[in-house]
Amino acid sequence: MKPFPTSFSLFNVFLFLSLLLLLGGSTTRAGPIKTVVVLVMENRSFDHMLGWMKKLNPEINGVDGSESNPLNATDPNSSRIFFKDGSQYVDPDPGHSFQAIREQIFGSNNTSADPPPMNGFAQQALSMSTDMVQDVMKGFDPSMVAVYRTLVSEFAVFDRWFASVPSSTQPNRLFVHSGTSGGATSNIPALLAMGYPQRTIFENIEDAGLSFGIYYQNIPATLFYRNLRKIKYVTKFRPYGLFFKAHAAAGKLPSYTVVEQRYMDSKLEPANDDHPSHDVYHGQVFKIIHFS
Ligand SMILES: *[C@@H]1O[C@H](CO)[C@@H](O)[C@H](O)[C@H]1NC(C)=O
Ligand SMILES: *[C@@H]1O[C@H](CO)[C@@H](O)[C@H](O)[C@H]1NC(C)=O
Ligand SMILES: *[C@@H]1O[C@H](CO)[C@@H](O)[C@H](O)[C@H]1NC(C)=O
Ligand SMILES: *[C@@H]1O[C@H](CO)[C@@H](O)[C@H](O)[C@H]1NC(C)=O
Ligand SMILES: *[C@@H]1O[C@H](CO)[C@@H](O)[C@H](O)[C@H]1NC(C)=O
Repeated sequence: MKPFPTSFSLFNVFLFLSLLLLLGGSTTRAGPIKTVVVLVMENRSFDHMLGWMKKLNPEINGVDGSESNPLNATDPNSSRIFFKDGSQYVDPDPGHSFQAIREQIFGSNNTSADPPPMNGFAQQALSMSTDMVQDVMKGFDPSMVAVYRTLVSEFAVFDRWFASVPSSTQPNRLFVHSGTSGGATSNIPALLAMGYPQRTIFENIEDAGLSFGIYYQNIPATLFYRNLRKIKYVTKFRPYGLFFKAHAAAGKLPSYTVVEQRYMDSKLEPANDDHPSHDVYHGQVFKIIHFS
């Protein structure tokens, strides 16, 4: 295994995914769902994370190794890279700018194909590094992501995953709680620093007389919403390690609970957000703690 990366910029983050809901808790509102816990991991593709789970359940729209991408999408005679298993916990970070993803999805800058041919993943990786070509055409063996293997065998799995914006982390994280990235298609440090002005679900929750809370580990990405910086919301932010398990055990989680993972990576406190090249093992361990 490669050594942990020692530095990591929040503004250069990958995409995320994975929305997990927990039912339970206790409020007096009508309806069976009392508490929603939202945890959004960084984007890794469905096939990469769950594709090989098809071995456990053929109903899952995963992979069987017959899938491939040409090394050169405009060359009909191009050699092809086939999808394999054997993804490692620490893998290199593939391209995930708007431009890179356009090439991955369309194989070129011509975006008129409908549906998109999804034939530019190997080609785009090759433009970054020859070593990366097979890495982007690989998925985890189910035993490597044991928490997902258990969840997959006990709960429903979405057929597909889509990103709100085919681009970097923050536009997608902005979408999660406000339904818009404010037009951003990349991480724009100056605008993130000022905070995005749109209304969020947190204000809707508050207006409905319900509660919300954010359990963070290092920097809460929810502070990229300007409205959440209001003084009156200061008590909504709590350190995850000190409070989450205690509040969950006591049935005191707010109605809309957001858990934020460690986005920054260091030897002492490894990131657990699944952003390549962060160690997916720590992302799995984090979810064990989260759900046990
Ligand atoms: C891809 O193939 C096309 C058509 O054969 C060729 O024109 C182009 O140069 C190739 N691109 C690369 C990067 O080899
Ligand atoms: C692909 O290979 C076939 C058979 O070798 C050849 O006739 C054809 O010209 C090739 N096409 C390109 C674009 O190189
Ligand atoms: C797409 O266009 C940009 C310039 O706008 C160029 O740098 C890039 O190489 C093109 N990508 C492909 C896959 O042709
Ligand atoms: C773009 O792709 C479409 C098919 O998806 C094709 O009909 C069209 O000719 C392409 N345009 C260019 C400029 O290559
Ligand atoms: C999600 O992750 C996959 C696999 O690493 C990557 O190829 C794809 O571009 C990402 N999707 C988006 C929308 O960023």
